[in-house]
Amino acid sequence: MNYPTDMSVTPEVKGFFDPATNTISYIVKDPASQSCAIVDSVMDIDYAAGRISYEHADELIAYVEAQGLKLEWLIETHVHADHLSAAPYIQKKLGGKLGIGRQITVVQDTFGKVFNEGTEFQRDGSQFDKLFEDGDTYQVGGMTCFAMHTPGHTPACMVHVMGNAAFVGDTLFMPDGGSARADFPGGDAATLYDSIQKVLSLPDEMRLFMCHDYGPNGREIRWETTVAEEKAHNIHVGAGKTKEDFVKFRTERDAQLDMPKLIIPSLQVNMRGGDLPPQDKDGKRFLKVPLNGL
Ligand SMILES: [Fe+2]
Repeated sequence: MNYPTDMSVTPEVKGFFDPATNTISYIVKDPASQSCAIVDSVMDIDYAAGRISYEHADELIAYVEAQGLKLEWLIETHVHADHLSAAPYIQKKLGGKLGIGRQITVVQDTFGKVFNEGTEFQRDGSQFDKLFEDGDTYQVGGMTCFAMHTPGHTPACMVHVMGNAAFVGDTLFMPDGGSARADFPGGDAATLYDSIQKVLSLPDEMRLFMCHDYGPNGREIRWETTVAEEKAHNIHVGAGKTKEDFVKFRTERDAQLDMPKLIIPSLQVNMRGGDLPPQDKDGKRFLKVPLNGL
């Protein structure tokens, strides 16, 4: 695939770190207009109490309003398993189109079964305004952006490239963080390696923005690096590590990882495009916990 990379466009990128889930949400502004996109927003949840709130999303909304920006796109890099998306909440207040990778339908099918959803849960991606295919382009103001299909962590993962900034989702972490796990249903370490190579084939100077950072070895939280830095120093895939090395390491490591704390609420909300499960006949909403289902 020949991607329409344009390193001459430098969008303004503002990161918002959510300490509860170590997620970074981004507001990306077209340099030539007031148009912007939001990548990977977060809804707050106190899972123990079954309580949701929108402080993090309200911070994004306040920034967009204070800067006088026009929100054109809400991008989900994938169906997150560690935090809940606030995209519909933000969309209701600011407008914009909600987009995710076309393979969301595969993810919906898998988790529709895990959560024993009925036919009212549509598995056709219709909760989203746009299902991106590999290489699809879209506009944020005058800036042409494109999606790269990067499966491996999940089947629907996409990296979104806007000018000289790429939002890598959970393909890569910072060089000292390595890569994301590949053991969720539909994940695959060898596929993830190939997808990472696609990201690393972007120009060396491409700015890469992480979806997560955990501050390994006590360093402060960071979320921006470059293709050159990742190629040289990524502890899982940099400095000439082979696919074989990666698959062996990733598989052994994943076998020892606990499930993310918020995987059960996250999947049920995010597979619906960030909508909450429907109300029951009394107008109440519930999340399910499948026993031994994950
Ligand atoms: Fe993820």
